[in-house]
Amino acid sequence: MTLSKCPGMSCQIFFFAVVISQSEEMRTLSLSGHVGFDSLPDQLVSKSVCQGFSFNILCVGETGIGKSTLMNTLFNTTFENEEASHFQNGVHLRPRTYSLQESNVDLQLTIVDTVGFGDQVNKEESYKPIVDYIDAQFENFLEEELKIKRSLYNYHDSRIHICLYFIAPTGHSLKSLDLVTMKKLDSKVNIIPIIAKADTISKSELQKFKIKIMSELVSNGVQIYQFPTDDEAVAEINSSMNAHLPFAVIGSSEEVQIGNKMVRARQYPWGVVQVENESHCDFVKLREMLIRVNMLDLREQTHARHYELYRRCKLEEMGFKDTDPDSEPFSLQETYVAKRREFIGELQLKEEQMRQMFVNKVKETEAELKEKERELHERFEMLKRSHQEEKRNLEEKRRDLEEEMNTFNRRKVAAETLQSLQAFSLLPFFPFQPLRLQSVPISGSHRL
Ligand code: GTP
Ligand code: MG
Repeated sequence: MTLSKCPGMSCQIFFFAVVISQSEEMRTLSLSGHVGFDSLPDQLVSKSVCQGFSFNILCVGETGIGKSTLMNTLFNTTFENEEASHFQNGVHLRPRTYSLQESNVDLQLTIVDTVGFGDQVNKEESYKPIVDYIDAQFENFLEEELKIKRSLYNYHDSRIHICLYFIAPTGHSLKSLDLVTMKKLDSKVNIIPIIAKADTISKSELQKFKIKIMSELVSNGVQIYQFPTDDEAVAEINSSMNAHLPFAVIGSSEEVQIGNKMVRARQYPWGVVQVENESHCDFVKLREMLIRVNMLDLREQTHARHYELYRRCKLEEMGFKDTDPDSEPFSLQETYVAKRREFIGELQLKEEQMRQMFVNKVKETEAELKEKERELHERFEMLKRSHQEEKRNLEEKRRDLEEEMNTFNRRKVAAETLQSLQAFSLLPFFPFQPLRLQSVPISGSHRL
């Protein structure tokens, strides 16, 4: 690898150059013999190789659009291929990390799949889990950076370096789900839009489809990743590739014999579509741009642009500033003290609010209990009244009954008296009386 192909290194050299030109004390001297610091770039390369690299790809696209097949085709291997179900309640992200080696370079590759994307009836929130996942990786990195004991050297960087956005080969226009999702992601990740299953669309339709997609992205203000043109070595190829976006790609896990060579292709009854044939699709262009030319730039853009934006917003949200209102550098100590004061103030306010809430709640409960007590008391009084009323009624009834009984007894006595009187007065006429009279012994006088 030459120095010019290593943007990280060219940045450092640029930095030294600025420091030297700014210092008026600095003199340029010539060396009279070989010293050896010209090996610095080699040292850097060898250190990086020792350390290994990580690269994280996010594949966003509908279920079955060809994400896994394209990944297998890109890296010429077979990653785990787990078919996603079409019946997910929502979108969830599935990261898988693999360790790959090519020559003496180790690559820790993470492929993040969007499982269930586009399968729901209501797709309004489909972008959210993706945004949350990207932010969570930034947050993890920021937390590591802010630790007192940092271990960034062997930290597994899971920040997404590239988002391959799979567009369905409809030939019409972008779906609103595609536009909304890309718009939500464009400030967080490098997006490369690709037309999937490009063998299912005709050549003339494909050209029109590409133009339509680009014009829709522009009119909706969606920023996609542009291959950098500031490095002379790759400026030409990158600017010509920018004009080919979105790449129309084909993936395949089959190999077909073409001449005396086995090539990745898709075989149909009417012919063979070769994945690596540039007149069949843009797969080679994508591989060239993504892996062979711009992998490092994608990593750097992620750190310098997207992560930097996240970090800035997050630190500002936490109350950190670079300068105070008088444009003086803001000290970390002052920020900490101010933030602490603010936090204690907020805490006291919350405590007061909670106390007030508690008092109000107690008052409310007390009032409710009092109301219930009053109601119970009223009911008791009512029951008491109705009980007394009933008692009075019963008393009256008892009195009436006693009266009736007395009357009855009086009548009974009267009737008995009358009956016995009648018995005496009717004695001579009673048919059996003579018999009874006969049995009564008669003394000297009448006795009754
Ligand atoms: P999930 O992970 O289940 O969401 O699916 P996926 O997006 O990973 O799709 P996958 O790679 O499993 O491919 C789904 C089907 O599409 C398979 O039958 C593939 O053979 C087929 N397929 C993949 N790439 C292409 C392509 O470029 N053209 C055509 N015509 N078919 C393809
Ligand atoms: Mg898959």
